[in-house]
Amino acid sequence: MLSIGIDFGTSNSSVAVFDPSAPLRAGPSAPPSTSLRAGGQKVRLLELDVHARDPRVMRSLLYIPRDGEIVAGQRALDMYTEQNTGREVRMERRYLGEVKMTFSDMEVLKDAYAMVDVNEPGRLFQSLKRFLAVTSFKKTNVFGVEYTLEELVATLARQIVRGAEAALGRSIDALVIGRPVRFHDDEAKNLAAFDRLQKAWGLTGVTDIRFMEEPVAAAHHHASEARLAPGTRFLVFDFGGGTLDVTVARATEGSIDVLATGGVPLGGDLLDSRIMESRIARHFGRGARYQPEDLPVPNHIFARLRSWQSIVELNRPDRLEIIRDARKKSDSPKELSALESLVTRNHGLGLFRAIEQAKIALSDDDWAEVRLQVDEIDVAEGITRDEFEAAIGGQVKSAMRCVVKAVTDAGCEPGDIRLVITTGGSSLIPVFRERLREALPEAEITASSTFTSVAAGLALAGGTGE
Ligand SMILES: Nc1ncnc2c1ncn2[C@@H]1O[C@H](COP(=O)(O)OP(=O)(O)OP(=O)(O)O)[C@@H](O)[C@H]1O
Ligand SMILES: [Mg+2]
Repeated sequence: MLSIGIDFGTSNSSVAVFDPSAPLRAGPSAPPSTSLRAGGQKVRLLELDVHARDPRVMRSLLYIPRDGEIVAGQRALDMYTEQNTGREVRMERRYLGEVKMTFSDMEVLKDAYAMVDVNEPGRLFQSLKRFLAVTSFKKTNVFGVEYTLEELVATLARQIVRGAEAALGRSIDALVIGRPVRFHDDEAKNLAAFDRLQKAWGLTGVTDIRFMEEPVAAAHHHASEARLAPGTRFLVFDFGGGTLDVTVARATEGSIDVLATGGVPLGGDLLDSRIMESRIARHFGRGARYQPEDLPVPNHIFARLRSWQSIVELNRPDRLEIIRDARKKSDSPKELSALESLVTRNHGLGLFRAIEQAKIALSDDDWAEVRLQVDEIDVAEGITRDEFEAAIGGQVKSAMRCVVKAVTDAGCEPGDIRLVITTGGSSLIPVFRERLREALPEAEITASSTFTSVAAGLALAGGTGE
C-alpha cells in the first residue's frame, strides 16, 4: 500500500510517496532529483506546485481574492504581488452588524464596526503554521466570510492534498503529517497549537491521519538512505522558517531508536526580523524625535516593523496619524515619508523579500545588500556576514542550548554523537554549522535534502509501520 507523507512547513510544504511494492528503478528513467533511495525501496517526491521553480516544494502561502477564489503556493505570491504592491491602502470604518454581548446575567445587542481596507483586492496568508500557537488569533473576516484559524490552515492543507492527488492521479485517504517538536515555549500554547493543527487537518476530509515529529521523520529518511552502522548515535538539526527541531537517535538494524527530541520556536522568519530591527528600521525613522520638544516617536510604531503582516496593521488611522504627524514635526522627515509609503503603498512584503534574499546570499557570500527603491523608499543597506551573525547572536545561543539539552536528555555526552544531519533552509547558515561543529566535536556534519527530507521520512515511516 502507498504511504503518503506531508511536510506542512511554515515557509514551504512538500509531499512524498513511499511504495513498498515498487521495484527500485535505476538508470535514466529514475531522475535522482525526484527519487530517493530508501531501504532499497522507493520514496518519491510529488510535483505539487507546477508554478514553482522547484515544483516539489510549494510555498505555504494562501491568497484569497475578493471573488473568493482560493489560490495557493507560487501563484498566491504572484497574484498578491501583482494586485497589491504599490496600491494605496484606504482604511474605512465599516458596519459589521449587531453582536450579542453578555454582562453578568444580562445580554445586550451592540452595533459592531471594524476598520476595513476598502481597496483590498485580496488577502495573503503567510506563515500560517506559526499562528497556530498564537492563541489570541481565533478568526478573521475575509471579505465577509468568517474563517477560524483552523479553517484557514485547512484551506491551505486542502490545496496541498489536491495538488498531491493531481500529481498522484488518485485520491488520498491516509496521511502521515509532520509536526514541530515544540510550537511554543509555553506549554499551554504548545498543546493548543497541536490541537488546532489536528483540528485543521481533520477538516480536510482525509480520514486516516497520523502525526510525527519532523526531525524524527528526517532521521528515518537519512538512516535508510545512508545505511548507518547499528549503534551510531546521531543528531538531526532541522531548522526551518518557523521552528528549530532536533532529535538524538541511535541507528538499529534497519531502523532507528529515538533517544530524545527537542525544539524551540525559532526560525528563519525571526532571523529576518532581526535584520529588520538591527539594520533596516532606521531607514524608516526608528530613533526619530519630534522637534522642537525632542521627544521620541512612539516605539510601538517601530515594533510593528518586525514582519510585513504587522506593517499592514500600521494602516489603522490612529497609527497613520502618528506617522504623518511625525513626518511633519520630526528630525527625520525623509525616513518617515519612507515609512508612510511602506505602510500605505503596501511595500512591506517586498521589503521582507529583499531582507530574506540578502540573508540567503549571506550563506554563500561575506556581504549582501538589502535593496528596495520604490516610491519614497530608498534603502540600499549593505550587511556583512559578521554583522548578520552579531545581529542574530541571541538566536544562535538559544539554538545551541536546544541542541545541548537534547544530547543531555538522550543520556549522551557530546562526544558520543558521531553524525549531525542538517536539514531545513535555515540550517544552511554557516554560523549554526560552525557552532554545531564546536559543540559536537566527534560528529561529521552532513546536509540532507534540505527542503524534502522531512516529507520523505514521513512517507517512509508511514510505510514501514514506524
Ligand atoms: N541558503 C539559505 N540560507 C539561509 N536561510 C535560508 C536559505 N534558504 C532558505 N532559507 C530560509 O529557510 C526558511 C525556510 O526553510 P524550510 O522550507 O526548511 O522551512 P519550513 O519547513 O517551511 O519551516 P518549519 O519547518 O520551521 O515549519 C526560510 O526562513 C528561508 O528564508
Ligand atoms: Mg520544516
